[in-house]
Amino acid sequence: MKLVIDTDPGVDDAMAIFYAALAPEIELIALTTTFGNVAVEKATRNALWLAEMAGLDIPVAQGAAHALSARAISPVAFIHGDEGLGHAPPVTPKGCAHALPAHEFLCELARAHKGELVVCAIGPITNLARAIQSDPDFARNVARIVFMGGAYAVPGNVSVHAEANTWNDPEALNIVITSGAEVVMVGLDVTMQALCDQAYFDGLAKAHPELGGVLHNASRLYLDFYESNLGTRGCSLHDPTAVIACTHPELFKMQRLPIVVVEEGDEMGRTIGAPDHGHPAIKVCVRGDMAAVKARFASVFGVN
Ligand code: BDR
Ligand code: CA
Repeated sequence: MKLVIDTDPGVDDAMAIFYAALAPEIELIALTTTFGNVAVEKATRNALWLAEMAGLDIPVAQGAAHALSARAISPVAFIHGDEGLGHAPPVTPKGCAHALPAHEFLCELARAHKGELVVCAIGPITNLARAIQSDPDFARNVARIVFMGGAYAVPGNVSVHAEANTWNDPEALNIVITSGAEVVMVGLDVTMQALCDQAYFDGLAKAHPELGGVLHNASRLYLDFYESNLGTRGCSLHDPTAVIACTHPELFKMQRLPIVVVEEGDEMGRTIGAPDHGHPAIKVCVRGDMAAVKARFASVFGVN
């Protein structure tokens, strides 16, 4: 599967990128970056470094520095660290970003791989909305858009109602949902159903000291955050779950539902099932075989 990941690395973004690099069924052809867990310049630097660590010679195009509305959003250093990869110091990639901005590069890639390209968005979905706004054919050219975000029948994680990626740019998600593209939502309904504990990351580092080792170190702060928040030392595989949903849809129960994203007020970022709103139905992952997702993720690092 030809895949582009739009990302804000981010501890679980790093997990998703390494997963895509190692999974034999994925041909990762580019990364595009966005603000979110860190400022976009740090996201680009991290994405370049993660790709290099994974031995990938692929372009990385820098994207949105803020939401479509230009609302100011602070990075979440207490979850992902000052530099985005837990307690790790700033990384120093060898390469530099592609000349085109992410949304233009996405349009170019979708045109070049018409009907074949799956775009997996694991940060605020601003770059994809901008691609849709700037190229009327973008939504038709992509095979599918799979995004990590939203909370359909469960509480949010930045507010009672909203998941972080949808809260960061709700307007962008409404544009993507109504673009005519096939859209799959991988939200907290599934990603919160299985947590990974310290032993899980110990296993990754043991099986794959290089890449598993990076994730082992990066996940310490992430696990600290979950422990202080949920009272249990286990973190979610949010972003890798979305990548796995691209290639292994059979691991999920998807319901076709018209979704509307609340753009302002106390419920900003809420993803509501709204049959009377005129939005087209998208595929919403309402359940997942998360034990299989965890096993699938670990298996590409060599964990049996
Ligand atoms: C999402 O928000 C970010 O913090 C994570 O990287 C993930 O994409 C989870 O709500
Ligand atoms: Ca992310």
